[in-house]
Amino acid sequence: MKCNFLYFSLIFLASCTNSTKEETVDCVNDNIRFANQQLGRQAQIIEESGTTLNPRTVKDDTIQYISNEDWTSGFFPGTMLLMYELTGDNKWMKYGIKYTEKLDSVKYLTSHHDIGFIINCSYGNAYNVTKNEKYKAVIIEAAKSLSTRFRPIPGVIQSWDENRGWQGTKGWMCPVIIDNMMNLELLFKASDVSGDSTFRKMAISHANVTMENHFRDDYSCYHVVDYDKIKGGVRGKYTAQGYSDESAWARGQAWALYGYTVCYRETKDKKYLNFAEKIYGFIFNNKNMPEDLVPYWDFDAPNIPNEPRDASAAAIIASALYELSSYTNDSYKKQADKIIASLSSPAYRAIVGTNHNFLLMHSVGSIPHGNEIDVPLNYADYYFLEALTRKKELEKN
Ligand code: GLY
Repeated sequence: MKCNFLYFSLIFLASCTNSTKEETVDCVNDNIRFANQQLGRQAQIIEESGTTLNPRTVKDDTIQYISNEDWTSGFFPGTMLLMYELTGDNKWMKYGIKYTEKLDSVKYLTSHHDIGFIINCSYGNAYNVTKNEKYKAVIIEAAKSLSTRFRPIPGVIQSWDENRGWQGTKGWMCPVIIDNMMNLELLFKASDVSGDSTFRKMAISHANVTMENHFRDDYSCYHVVDYDKIKGGVRGKYTAQGYSDESAWARGQAWALYGYTVCYRETKDKKYLNFAEKIYGFIFNNKNMPEDLVPYWDFDAPNIPNEPRDASAAAIIASALYELSSYTNDSYKKQADKIIASLSSPAYRAIVGTNHNFLLMHSVGSIPHGNEIDVPLNYADYYFLEALTRKKELEKN
């Protein structure tokens, strides 16, 4: 990372990782102050546009707004709701609800698995903060849509259609990506609020089959596993967004860690907790994990240390580790605190009014597709704020 940031980074590291309560609270409060200003500017631009724009990233110095069906459409509404949780300011609740309700039609989306991400981050958070019954209905409808993608023979939710988009040329039959672990939270939630255990059973089946097939002996994971949905079994293992089929794409490892932590929360089955800890072991013992704990975009990228970092992977890992620490021990929290300290430093955190009003710089969407390389991403910001809500909650006691 750039040398002129080193001095400032050291100051932030000192204020974000020291162990006294006052100093750690300061770190959270400092980030809340910053996010309040930065996202305040973002929300103001959107409000002044007279429509509900949904920001995802920046391309050629221009902010990119997305449609409701984009896999990342739930993150900006969710970010507003997390700001409400962090500040208690009703302005954020108002924006969060308004941008969430714009996504209403997504509950019928069956063309890809990301309905889980979209609805859980928007309506899931809206339900958590308001307990409004009408959001329950959306969560249940969305889970029904997601469950149309469950393939009983391999026992997984199919991520992408085999005959659509860029993956339509691959000859896959039932591609499942590790990211899909993140869609299970919607299914668990739908069972909780409806009392219908069908969704939960699908989630558990998906988690178990993924555990069986997606992971290598060292607990790193493949990005894509293609299943035979007629005979069952695995047809092949690949990457889509990683460096190579056999490499460990950083955000994929982050999704896996987060996903199995959620599975433990929802089932209390120790096998998921143990598995999350094994994934943690791979990530944190990796020789290519940098000292500031913000991973390169792929742990096996060929030109490390001259490869882009992925702040989004770091934010997801930090958020997962705060939750994991609440089930196990404080060492996970210490690592999460170090990540948050790094992300809070000027090496990754934007200056107010820059970065098109996104919070974090230096994330990666997909290098193999030539998309979103070293840019801000709405999901990096979402998981950064989620991590801060979890840190704040843990430190309350
Ligand atoms: N789910 C897509 C990604 O992580 O880029």
